[in-house]
Amino acid sequence: MSATTLERPQTDSVRLERTPDPCVMVIFGASGDLTKRKLLPAVYMLFKEHLVPPNFSIVGFSRSPMSDDEFRSHMRDGVEEFGGPVDTATWQKFAAGLRYISAHPHHPEEYAKLTGVLSELDRERGTGGNRVYYLAVPPSSFLPIVRNLQAAGLAQPEQAWARVIIEKPFGHDLESAQALNCELSKVFREEQIYRIDHYLGKETVQNLLVFRFANGIFEPIWNRRYVDHVQITAAETLGVENRASYYEEAGALRDMVQNHMLQLLTMTAMEPPVAFDAETVRAEKVKVLRAIRPLCSEDTPHCAVRGQYGPGQIGGEKVVGYRQEPGVDPNSNTETFAAVKLHIENWRWAGVPFYLRAGKRLARHATEIAVQFRQPPLRLFEGTHAIPPNLIVVRIQPDEGIALRFSAKRPGPATRVRDVNMDFRYSTSFGMASANAYERLLLDCMLGDPSLFASSRFVELGWSLLTPMLEAWKNHPAPDFPNYAAGTWGPAAADKLMDYGQSWRSPSQSDDDAATPME
Ligand SMILES: NC(=O)c1ccc[n+]([C@@H]2O[C@H](COP(=O)([O-])OP(=O)(O)OC[C@H]3O[C@@H](n4cnc5c(N)ncnc54)[C@H](OP(=O)(O)O)[C@@H]3O)[C@@H](O)[C@H]2O)c1
Repeated sequence: MSATTLERPQTDSVRLERTPDPCVMVIFGASGDLTKRKLLPAVYMLFKEHLVPPNFSIVGFSRSPMSDDEFRSHMRDGVEEFGGPVDTATWQKFAAGLRYISAHPHHPEEYAKLTGVLSELDRERGTGGNRVYYLAVPPSSFLPIVRNLQAAGLAQPEQAWARVIIEKPFGHDLESAQALNCELSKVFREEQIYRIDHYLGKETVQNLLVFRFANGIFEPIWNRRYVDHVQITAAETLGVENRASYYEEAGALRDMVQNHMLQLLTMTAMEPPVAFDAETVRAEKVKVLRAIRPLCSEDTPHCAVRGQYGPGQIGGEKVVGYRQEPGVDPNSNTETFAAVKLHIENWRWAGVPFYLRAGKRLARHATEIAVQFRQPPLRLFEGTHAIPPNLIVVRIQPDEGIALRFSAKRPGPATRVRDVNMDFRYSTSFGMASANAYERLLLDCMLGDPSLFASSRFVELGWSLLTPMLEAWKNHPAPDFPNYAAGTWGPAAADKLMDYGQSWRSPSQSDDDAATPME
């Protein structure tokens, strides 16, 4: 191509299917729950669908004693239990690339074993020196592991790439997140660090950008002139399950709002990016966070509500309160529900409140974004029933889809108005289940595309926004916990967050309301 020819940016508007380079994924914490439940089922599916090269290999690294064969069999159980049926011929090819090292990841001398196994895989399976390091371990192990990788010369391979994936929590407040980012950056460059937020791997979340920017009819009304307010809900029917020790330290604000819900908010509110590359999309999301009116601890009572569930009923079954759950302090001050009101002070959104709500043991399992439009003048219809405003609901899970609520005339001689829905459902329109979020994200990491991962800037801005609330809640233990019964929509105080004339939605019963963990 001559220097004067205009080059067409090929991947700006669409993301084409590609296959990653050969590589080895090293999973620290390979004996754990995440590896078995999410990671192995996802990589097995990628392998089965030929989305990773046939020589793709995995090294499990954790302290539990296991042979290579025991690891393979443990992983097969995981794939069968959490992924689906395993085809024996495909499994045998996949399992040929699985190795296991039983070692303490904090001990630098153990990394010689890792170097040895990686060299062997490069030699025998042609994995080319490329590495993905997945830190499926508690956060206290992140830094010892990355430092040991650096000391072993495994962080910056020559003529090959190395990337590291870390799981939330990315710190527990602004200071700790900054310290973590700072330490990580001493070992890996920012473009090597993939902070996974599995919400971003969901088709419905990615579809938000297509819905907004590939259609001519929604974007012109997606602003303060037409939108009254936005509600983002992540409701679980499950309680704390077997994660009490983690949850006691985290609570709903840290566990859901600081990461997943801020991601949903920024994708709902961001300006159209000029391209779909990681840098551009992530910069637009950061702009939204920077435009949110900062809050101080004193604002907390006016802009945030916390709750903790007491005993109640879920699906007709009695369940205990949070303080009675195994592993939970009987006087726990941890919130299992958080609702927050935020204002984005830019030209598109000034004056439009964004309400975020997340909780456990709520009435229904549903994650959705509801954009409520301003009411038109209705004098024409005086005397008919109250006419609800238009609403667009993006259902993230379950029953993925988008609904538009509008008013229609009831059949008959009188002018009676009723609200009706136009409903798009992924399952019926495309006739296929969405891929697991981890499949998409692991593949993107292998392809070197961090668009759907959280940047350090995003994480730190998220913490700087919420840290004052966390401090206020820590300094003033809730006098009224538990303040909502399991199986309800949370504490009554959440209603008071709403401006005049606004109220929380009750996401409607879905066809597929299984009690699966919040994903
Ligand atoms: N599970 C989920 O669904 C989920 C969801 C979101 C985020 N996460 C995050 O993903 C990471 C892994 O989750 P997980 O549920 O798999 O955790 P996990 O089961 O508690 O731990 C994973 C593995 O890490 C190793 N480990 C535990 N404590 C360690 C220590 N002090 N030093 C060194 N190694 C240690 C253990 O292996 P050995 O004892 O064999 O060494 C364990 O099997 C965590 O950061 C978690 O917060 C998990």
